[in-house]
Amino acid sequence: MNSEGTVAGAQEYWRRYYAEQFRFGLGTEDILAALMRIPPVTTWADLGCGSESMLWATALRAQRLVAVDIDTQRLEILRQFVTTAQPRGIHVTALELCGRTDPDAFEARCRSLTALIQADCLSSQPPTDPRLIEQSFNLVTQFGLLGLCRDANHFTTSFAHIHRLQAPGGWVGGANWVARHAPSRVELTRQLYTTAATRAGVHLLLLKRIPSPDPDFTAVWIYIGRKTPCPRSAPLTSRHPTN
Ligand SMILES: C[S@@+](CC[C@H](N)C(=O)[O-])C[C@H]1O[C@@H](n2cnc3c(N)ncnc32)[C@H](O)[C@@H]1O
Repeated sequence: MNSEGTVAGAQEYWRRYYAEQFRFGLGTEDILAALMRIPPVTTWADLGCGSESMLWATALRAQRLVAVDIDTQRLEILRQFVTTAQPRGIHVTALELCGRTDPDAFEARCRSLTALIQADCLSSQPPTDPRLIEQSFNLVTQFGLLGLCRDANHFTTSFAHIHRLQAPGGWVGGANWVARHAPSRVELTRQLYTTAATRAGVHLLLLKRIPSPDPDFTAVWIYIGRKTPCPRSAPLTSRHPTN
């Protein structure tokens, strides 16, 4: 584990998990499929974004993205990647999987990044950066952040903190990997997610565990939900085909 609690440092993580080839069978395609079910949103906050927001962006349709991480090195990798706007093989495959066939699809997602914010999203207090708290986000995601929590209380508290950034009725989504060798991390269970979501005022529409053959991770938990109150007439239904 490195100082941010992840299995690899910024450069190594970017190289190992987000290099050229899309690695099927590890749950990534399941996460993309789940995210595809979220309708277009105006504002999206990706917390614990690392350098990877653009992969999840391929499935989403957000006008403005605010990317947040504690690690400035990962934010800088993301900034450079978005500036060049050249998709890697993994992004090309992800765009194909998601049916995002518009030639401008990747560049448009890169252009949507409006702020990179260095902040601690797992502290005992909710985030205080004005760029985060002075707006309500229509979508709040985290991929691999909450899984770094040390115990159930830390997870539940952090889940509530990050979803305070959200507009009522806004969408939530994310995934957390179950590390094979990380005894200091919270044990991810269905009960943990449902308790944390209830306390945060989030109605979970999808929660599933996908087993993985990855040597570092045995499974990934994926969820989609909405901050209550949400309109009864807009359940999680089918895919939305537009780019
Ligand atoms: C497992 S990585 C996931 C990165 C990326 N979201 C992805 O999909 O691969 C966890 C990320 O959380 C960040 N992180 C760790 N602790 C954090 C904290 N307290 N506040 C904000 N980000 C944190 C790490 O720097 C890292 O980028």
